[in-house]
This record gives sequence, structure tokens and C-alpha cells, in this order.
Amino acid sequence: MPSTPPSWTPPSPLSPLPPATMPWARWRRRTRVPPSCTRCRPASTRPRRSLSTFATDHPDSPKEHRTMPLALLDGPPTRTRPFAPWPSVNTATRKALVAAHDSGTWWQNGNSAAEELEAWLEAEFERRAIAVSSGTAALGLALAALGIGRGDEVLVPACTFVSSAAAVSARGAVPIPVDITSDTLTLDAGIAETAVTSRTRAIVPVHLAGHPADLTAITALARRHHLAIIEDAAQTVAASWAGTRVGTATDATILSFQAAKLLPGGDGGALLLRDEQTARRAERLANCGRPRGSSAYDHELLGSNARISVFAAALVLAHTRTYEHMWRAREGQWHALAEALVGQGHGGLLAEPHPEATRHDHYAVLVRLPASLTERGVRASTLAAALAAEGIPSRTLFPPWQATPAYRDDPQVNAVPTPRAVEVAATTVALPHQLLLDPYFPTQTAAALTKIIAAGDDLIAWQQV
Ligand SMILES: Cc1ncc(COP(=O)(O)O)c(C=O)c1O
Repeated sequence: MPSTPPSWTPPSPLSPLPPATMPWARWRRRTRVPPSCTRCRPASTRPRRSLSTFATDHPDSPKEHRTMPLALLDGPPTRTRPFAPWPSVNTATRKALVAAHDSGTWWQNGNSAAEELEAWLEAEFERRAIAVSSGTAALGLALAALGIGRGDEVLVPACTFVSSAAAVSARGAVPIPVDITSDTLTLDAGIAETAVTSRTRAIVPVHLAGHPADLTAITALARRHHLAIIEDAAQTVAASWAGTRVGTATDATILSFQAAKLLPGGDGGALLLRDEQTARRAERLANCGRPRGSSAYDHELLGSNARISVFAAALVLAHTRTYEHMWRAREGQWHALAEALVGQGHGGLLAEPHPEATRHDHYAVLVRLPASLTERGVRASTLAAALAAEGIPSRTLFPPWQATPAYRDDPQVNAVPTPRAVEVAATTVALPHQLLLDPYFPTQTAAALTKIIAAGDDLIAWQQV
């Protein structure tokens, strides 16, 4: 990270947007909307096209907007302008790609963008770094290099992308789901301790949505039971717990450079290892069993090809240069949203960083349905649909991986319930990190959420149709 990143101020909009001053009743008259339920009407008769006359894409969302019908029910959306896409495509990323192309070095040869990326990672994390083809591949390599396989058990939080568990299964080992804590939504070390058996070999803390897992408790647990720690840092690069940066104090850490991630390369990943011997093994396993750069038939191990493309590595490197700057933007905008929500009486909606989370990377903004709605049966998928209609994209959080079709018939992984992970999946949505880079995001998201929460009856009616 650059030591003195520039401070961030939100960019001003290209052109000022009109404030939304037209009352809903006048808008309805103007667009001749029949007063009945608009969901049942054919799309062609819906008034969406005329909504540009009613744009609420204004930083100071009007007070009357809160009482307007939900966009889900064809009311005026809070925002009509799409958010900027991610990954960000700019001159720097194009130059990086062209430079990799023009170098003529299209694979790792000791002097390519892949090695440059590894050097950056080694300087950042003070660990041996191996750039690979994906986060999933990095997880598999970490397990293989640490000698984890058939007959072993690995503790994995129930709330994570399926790869955290599937990589364990692919090694012939058994992933054991562990419930999460209600505040951090990351692995609960206390519950993990009860799941340790004589076969447990490793634990995989996942830094979900950029929030660090409790590395203090997990490290203590791993020491007590002689477990390897493999951090899944696919959703963060620089989060820290109690002042310790992820990836800097454990046996192994994986990163993902998949297109949606904070350092996108299209696809790609990295493995950070404490131990030089393990790193040499992982490097060979990722290169068809050969040492780096070798094209001889000197296959010392049974490996596969998990090398990163030099083009992906070049794109990731280009993003590393703006990483700290982007983080400042996300951090500032997250706090602006939290304040805007408090101002509108909805203080508890965001999943807040734990006091020991000394840095949160804000890979996603997690919004929880309030009890007033969950008690009445409103689901996270309905909140996501309502937000999407208001112009704010989001997704429901991961279902517990052991409940996905790949695992649901496996009695071993479904032996112990994980009620918190089940509850979080049903009540939480994740807004992607790039939304935080938009200057209107905090006010518009707070306005949309306020409107949605006030319309509980409509949400329930919509769910029932
Ligand atoms: C928590 C977590 N682990 C692992 C992965 C897998 O990374 P990749 O897509 O690079 O294979 C992801 C990707 O979404 C993830 O979110």
C-alpha cells in the first residue's frame, strides 16, 4: 500500500439532477395510472418510462419520497441512474494489459507480471506468495501443500461461498460446518472448539464481506488443538483484527482476484504461506509438479496447472495502485450511510464492524431486515427485490453451504445445525462494494431503505402474490 494515499472526496455528478418535488398524486394523475394494484397490469401499461420526469437521483432525497409507493409496486424509484460498473476500466488497466501483451512474455518466466504481483504480495504480507488461477485453486493448493486429505476434517464457517468447503471435499477430506457469531458473521471460535475431533487437521476462518474473523480466538484454538489455519481472504485484502492484518500471522491465506473482488483480474488468486518448504511444494503443485519456470520434464510431484495468466496478474497489479484510495472512499461512504440511517431512525440496519475489527475492508455493505419485518415473515429476497426496484442492487447472503444441493444429502456435514447462518441468510442482503464509490449512495440508500421499511404491509402483500 502507498504510505500516503490521497484523501478521497466524492466526485461531483456530471450534471445536476432535478429535485423530486412532484407529489405522488399529481404524478399518478399525469401518467393515468389506474388506482388498482399495478403488479397485475401488463408491463406495457406500467408507468416506468415516464419516471424520468420524476427522478429522485438527488443527494437530498425529499421528505415526501419516504411516503411514496414502493418502486416494487410501480411507484417512483429512488434512483434511476445506474451505478458505475465494476471492475473499473480505465487508462491504467488498459495500459497494464497492453504492456503485458507487448512484452511477448505470456507466461511466468521469472520476469513477468505474475512475478511482479508476487513481489508486491510478499512485500505487503511478509509471506511467500504464489499467484495462481483462482481463489478456489489457492484453497486446494493450501490444503494439499499442508498434507490435508482423505480421512481428515477441516472446520469451515457455515456462512461462506461454497468454495471454502468444496476445496476441502475435493481433497477427499470432510468440511465440518461451524456456525457464525451474530455480530461479526464470521466463524464462532467457541462453537468450533466443540466441533474438534481427533481427525480435525485445519480451520478455515473466512473474512466475510471484508470483516475480519476473530483471529485472536482462532489462533488460540488452533494452538490448543494443533490445527493449521488457512485464512480465506477472498473478500478482503487488508482487513485487520486487533491490529493484525489478515494473511500476516497464520500458516496460509488465500486471496481471490475474480472480477467482482477488490483486486480484480478477471480471474486469479494467490496463496500466502509462512513456511518456505510448504511454499516450494505449493509452487510445484501449481505448475504440473515442476519448479517455477521449468519447461523440462522434471515433474517431481503430481500437480496440476493452476498458474495465473500474466494478463490477469497485470490487471491485479494495476488495481493495487489505487487500492488504498478506494478503501478510503468505501470507509467514508460506509460511515456516511450509517449516519444517514441513524438520522432516519434506522440505526440497527447495518452490520457494524466489531470493536476489535481494526480495519474493515467493506467488500459488501450488509443490511439486515429489522425485527419488525422479520417477525411478520418478510424475507431477505423481498428486501433485495425492493432495493433493486428502487435502483439499488444487492444480493441475499450465502445460504449455509451444507444446505446447497451439492451437500444437502450428506449426513456427515449436516449432522450439526447452524441456526445463526440460516437466520442470516434469510434476513440479510449484501450491497456490492462498488456502490460505495458513488457520491449519492449514502443518501439514496438510506432513503430507499426508509421507504421500504415503512411499507411493511406492501412487502408482505407483494411476497404473497
Ligand atoms: C469467501 C470466498 N472464498 C473463496 C472464493 C473463491 O474464489 P474464486 O472465485 O477466485 O475461485 C470466493 C469467491 O467468490 C469467496 O467469496
